[in-house]
Amino acid sequence: MPDDQPRHPDHVPLAGVIGMPIAHSRSPRLHGHWLRRYGIAGHYIPMPVMPEHLAEVLRALPRLGFVGVNVTIPHKEAVLALADTVTDRAALIGAANTLIFRPDGKIHADNTDGYGFVANLRQNAPDWWPKAGPAALIGAGGAARAVVASLLDSGVGELRITNRTRIRSEQIKSEFGARLVVYDWAQAGNMLEGAATVVNATSLGMDGKQPLRLPLDALSPDALVTDLVYAPLVTPFLRDAQARGCRIVDGLGMLLHQAAPGFECWFGRRPEVDDDLRRAVLE
Ligand code: ATR
Repeated sequence: MPDDQPRHPDHVPLAGVIGMPIAHSRSPRLHGHWLRRYGIAGHYIPMPVMPEHLAEVLRALPRLGFVGVNVTIPHKEAVLALADTVTDRAALIGAANTLIFRPDGKIHADNTDGYGFVANLRQNAPDWWPKAGPAALIGAGGAARAVVASLLDSGVGELRITNRTRIRSEQIKSEFGARLVVYDWAQAGNMLEGAATVVNATSLGMDGKQPLRLPLDALSPDALVTDLVYAPLVTPFLRDAQARGCRIVDGLGMLLHQAAPGFECWFGRRPEVDDDLRRAVLE
């Protein structure tokens, strides 16, 4: 079938997630819930893909009736080079999590992680105001880069960043600019002084991993504290922040919100992120 052939009117849209490993991805449950809830004829499928097969798989999927896919580890960076168009935010972050296969065969890459991060805070802490004071970010991996892009976009005046491997935070500063201030990992507690928004974007605190250990003496009870880790929902870091009187927002909402733009593009309906969805994903 030529790539520019229009889709058949009876076409049942297929979408999914590609990664390796993929068995534990919550995305099929999430999109499956929305498909059932809105009575949409479509399917969302987890697909294990080896890095050496990525290019071939991306060429084949549109021909099999796929309208797009989510992308997870280890392909989030590699897909940028294989896409025909890349949004500015995906290019800036250096990774994509959402691909749209256009009817003309072109692949469009976007990154909705930063959108999901901010949408989660807006939904669960509606009075959160990014300009209230400096933001403090722990971590400098792929997820942290999406948080940096979205916080700067939201108007944060100063964004402090620390990471075990300091050079990764230096690299982010060199790419994202003057509003970033790098703190040494050994002095991470200092960056909480006066911070209005505090984010853990490391994998510390995840089930089976060490907790994030940070002296919280400088943390103001007025700060909003959030964690990208969502298993467990309340990480030791969030629990400690809550004990100091801070408002906390868990990371599950980011996962749910980052999925919404892709679902809308593929299946034609903007889905809702609510408690029913949370329950379905946690089951
Ligand atoms: P993701 O795409 O989820 O952000 P990643 O790019 O591998 O994944 O980033 C993981 C983050 O968790 C990094 O900030 C990493 O710190 P390093 O850059 O120093 O590796 C952080 N991290 C993971 N394990 C850690 C540990 N034991 N102590 C401190 N930081 C850790």
